[in-house]
Amino acid sequence: MKNLRGKTALITGASRGLGVHLARALADRGVHLALAARTASDLERIRAELAPKGVKVLCVPVDLTDRVALQSVVERVVGELGSIDLLINNASLEQGALYTEYPRESLQRTIDVNLTAPMMLTSMVLPHMLARGEGHVVNIASVAGIVGVAYNEAYATTKHGIVGFTRSLAATAEGEGWPVGFSCILPGFIADTGMYEHMKQLTGSASPLIAGTSSPQAVVSATLKAIERNRLEVVGRHPLGFARVRSRRMVQSRGLGQASTTVGRAGSVGAARAPGSALTLERFRYAESHARARRGRAEQRSLRKA
Ligand SMILES: NC(=O)c1ccc[n+]([C@@H]2O[C@H](COP(=O)([O-])OP(=O)(O)OC[C@H]3O[C@@H](n4cnc5c(N)ncnc54)[C@H](OP(=O)(O)O)[C@@H]3O)[C@@H](O)[C@H]2O)c1
Repeated sequence: MKNLRGKTALITGASRGLGVHLARALADRGVHLALAARTASDLERIRAELAPKGVKVLCVPVDLTDRVALQSVVERVVGELGSIDLLINNASLEQGALYTEYPRESLQRTIDVNLTAPMMLTSMVLPHMLARGEGHVVNIASVAGIVGVAYNEAYATTKHGIVGFTRSLAATAEGEGWPVGFSCILPGFIADTGMYEHMKQLTGSASPLIAGTSSPQAVVSATLKAIERNRLEVVGRHPLGFARVRSRRMVQSRGLGQASTTVGRAGSVGAARAPGSALTLERFRYAESHARARRGRAEQRSLRKA
């Protein structure tokens, strides 16, 4: 989708973190916005900030785990703003824990927010885009969608799912000649905002180098390019920011065989040649920092009990 001005975007997770940066950048390009998240007061604050830019901004407070509410959101946005040209599935839950201690009720919730909601919303919005002959769906994944991240099974599983979902949709779009683009953005860690920054402040744990840390601006810029140039996948890369690692054609013609190359390239230049050893080392460091944080929390709990 080359010209974004005057289009309408539905962004989930728009109340804080990366979603706010995406909303600001789209408003700067003249895109009308529907902002979705649970916290209505935060959405309202963002609406007040962005409305003076001359775009329409609609707040649609919603819990993404409520499937009936999702349909109402789509109907409301189309009714009030006229269309949904861009769907940005950005909202996610992340809860690191040793898997044997991972709360089972959080498993379903993580899957519902990170995977089922984007799949549902896409299914609801896609017929509308096809009827209009234009549209783009962006799924914000993570490097955790292509590598195994210790202490993060639920999140990594949903992110692997969303990567597969996007690849599959892009393949179908190619086969069916759909006039709709699909992109998946796979940041490493995002600095200064969002869930990682929150975790860093809580635990003091550093990001593994291999995943790379990008500014929110770099992630936003990669996302906008992916929409404007119809790129299928963009993966965070340390220390160079973002790089396109595969074209639509490579995914479809080489299928699964291509996946290991992506893992290598996703991290750093060295990892491209030795993904196993480099990733194992970084994963170990990441696991260590989480383990330290976990031990700290356990100590605090036992101190409180004592
Ligand atoms: N931050 C990073 O380092 C990093 C790295 C790689 C990938 N990513 C990806 O980037 C995206 C944005 O991450 P972030 O760091 O900006 O996250 P964040 O700061 O934790 O924000 C998450 C957003 O999702 C919304 N949300 C959570 N549960 C919801 C629910 N049940 N219903 C509706 N909305 C819900 C939250 O709003 P409410 O609480 O108001 O509902 C919030 O707006 C995610 O897909 C994440 O996986 C982030």
